[in-house]
Amino acid sequence: MTHLYETARALVAPGKGILAADESDGTIKKRFDSIGVESTEENRRAYRDLLFTTEGAEEFISGVILYDETIRQSSADGTPFARLLESKGIVPGIKVDKGAKPLALTEGETITEGLDGLRGRLEEYRGLGARFAKWRATYSIGPGKPSEYCVWTNAHALARYAALCQEAGLVPIVEPEVLMDGRHTLEEASKATGRVLQAVYVELHDQRVDLRGTLLKPNMVLSGYEAPVRAGVREVAEATLECFYRHVPAAVPGIVFLSGGQSDEDATAHLNAMNQTGPHPWELSFSYGRALQAPALKAWGGDAANLTDAQQAYLHRAKLNGAARFGRYSEDMEREAVAA
Ligand code: 13P
Repeated sequence: MTHLYETARALVAPGKGILAADESDGTIKKRFDSIGVESTEENRRAYRDLLFTTEGAEEFISGVILYDETIRQSSADGTPFARLLESKGIVPGIKVDKGAKPLALTEGETITEGLDGLRGRLEEYRGLGARFAKWRATYSIGPGKPSEYCVWTNAHALARYAALCQEAGLVPIVEPEVLMDGRHTLEEASKATGRVLQAVYVELHDQRVDLRGTLLKPNMVLSGYEAPVRAGVREVAEATLECFYRHVPAAVPGIVFLSGGQSDEDATAHLNAMNQTGPHPWELSFSYGRALQAPALKAWGGDAANLTDAQQAYLHRAKLNGAARFGRYSEDMEREAVAA
């Protein structure tokens, strides 16, 4: 297991975090639709190539989560993406779940699929260069939600996935995401997140997973996006830490937050505020998709002529989140040129 501990620790090295570039075909199409670009295999490849070849990103990015299609693709010069990342000291990872599907006999709750045949797929991904994996479960907040049924079935599946990963020599990133859509309060978000985390750690323990070779990728505790009054940065940081201190064992080396639809600036400010306190038992880092990519995607707009601008935009966000790892981010940095 010691190589798993080392990989997990490398992924939360000081000043660094993870880029989630594992959007499924459906999700990347949505992102491309927003900039008026057709989601062809070559456009998806070119866009990911732009991100992965950004010079200097390795100073702030420890790992990249790839999608099944992406781990089989190569950079323009023919180097497979996993090898390209590895050569920059960035650890390649892979999303292995098959998506959140309706949970039988519930109204609107989900269960994540993908366990059947997973052992074989993990072996293949390891051969393709992956050193860690990701599995995402989703939960909504509302009347009677998340139900105990949804909380425990997803915890069970997350633990089955994590145990298979460790057996295959991959670090499992365990991602229970309580969705922040709706009008819920900060307290309701904290309660739901706490229930979810508690179940996840019971199942991980029961299924013999060694927490030292795992990472947790959770939501932050936020007021619902449509709530009439929304908590500020300090309140979010305090509520999130309070919840994690109660439910996440100290053996977990790192908590790598997802951005989950927060603006890029909010996602950075929240992480920064948490890292201004401490020390904490776990590294507090990021594994952002949208909050790292949004400005780059917009700057690119599907045009190769914008490559440099798009790379600068991505590098800038990576740098700001790297600063937030030390609690050294400030709003003024938003306006600084990345080269400064
Ligand atoms: P966001 O940061 O855009 O939420 O994406 C992270 C992720 O990997 C979700 O599964």
